[in-house]
Amino acid sequence: MRIVHVELGQKSYNIEIERGLLEQAGQKIRALLPRAEKAAVITDSNVGPLYASILRQALEKEGLSVTVLTFQAGEERKNLVTLGTLYDGLAAAGLTRSDMVIALGGGVTGDMGGLAAATFLRGIAFIQIPTSLLAAVDSSVGGKVAIDLKSGKNLVGAFYQPKAVFIDPDLLKTLPVRYLHDGLAEVIKYGCILDRELFSQLERLRDDRDLLEQADGIIETCCALKARIVEKDEFDTGERMLLNFGHTLGHAVEKTFHFDTFSHGEGVGIGMVLITGRSEALGLTEPGTADKIKALLQKFLLPVTVAMKPEDFLKAVALDKKKRGSSLTLVLLKTIGESFLQKTEFSGLEDYLPEKT
Ligand code: GLY
Repeated sequence: MRIVHVELGQKSYNIEIERGLLEQAGQKIRALLPRAEKAAVITDSNVGPLYASILRQALEKEGLSVTVLTFQAGEERKNLVTLGTLYDGLAAAGLTRSDMVIALGGGVTGDMGGLAAATFLRGIAFIQIPTSLLAAVDSSVGGKVAIDLKSGKNLVGAFYQPKAVFIDPDLLKTLPVRYLHDGLAEVIKYGCILDRELFSQLERLRDDRDLLEQADGIIETCCALKARIVEKDEFDTGERMLLNFGHTLGHAVEKTFHFDTFSHGEGVGIGMVLITGRSEALGLTEPGTADKIKALLQKFLLPVTVAMKPEDFLKAVALDKKKRGSSLTLVLLKTIGESFLQKTEFSGLEDYLPEKT
């Protein structure tokens, strides 16, 4: 069993990582919430049929009455309409403030389940059981929960820390390979910004089999890196912004292609390569860094270029919620494993865009 502790005073929690953990989740949750009578499991139409009944059994063994709320899978469902249906489900199940919401799934499920937990009855206990690599290494840790509006992603949300995160790396075996690689892009990001040794470990992986075999350790490393950042900057006003490496241009790519061509990790991968290519050209980054990132992404079939003009990026970035007033904060690398924040006037953003005209 690997345990990463997130120290946030009264909001502290553990991230537990172990193969077969899903079957043990009932006992672990019971120990955390001894007075709870009911659990609502929020999941989607991909993950629910695979794993909800295993979790249900584990919880019922502990005397919990379980309601499974399943929504149609897809980022486009992470909206007010689905959230409203989830609230109705929680109310119909009669959950009280001593009960809990458990998110069983990927990033969409964790984000929306977390927001439901943060707001239903003004907040009830929340447990994350991520089933995708992306959710395991990023979205399930750190308490960011949200839904999308028509005008942008994650525009309504909260910081709401879970009581625990249970990660069973065996669940990654059923993840479609595109989404395994999607999560790997975020893992590569951690190596780029904070951990040269992690980056080298990823360079040594030969294939997806190696990745799945080493998943426990890789997830532990990423969660520990994120935990240390969240402990220092829970509310994302400083160091936590380093986690946005590749995201400004990556979001622009996702958005320009209407979120249906590139997955989040694919956008981030392209964003990391593009911004690093530019920061190398500006003399801010060690030469050859962008090529290293590119080679690693390509080994796992992740895209590294995109047919977009500088003006497409400008248009999309202008709408990015990270743009505060006339400036935005970019994340750049000195070299692999070392990153820094660069506050940039929006008018100077063109310097960081590919194929500057
Ligand atoms: N996904 C970036 C963060 O949690 O801050």
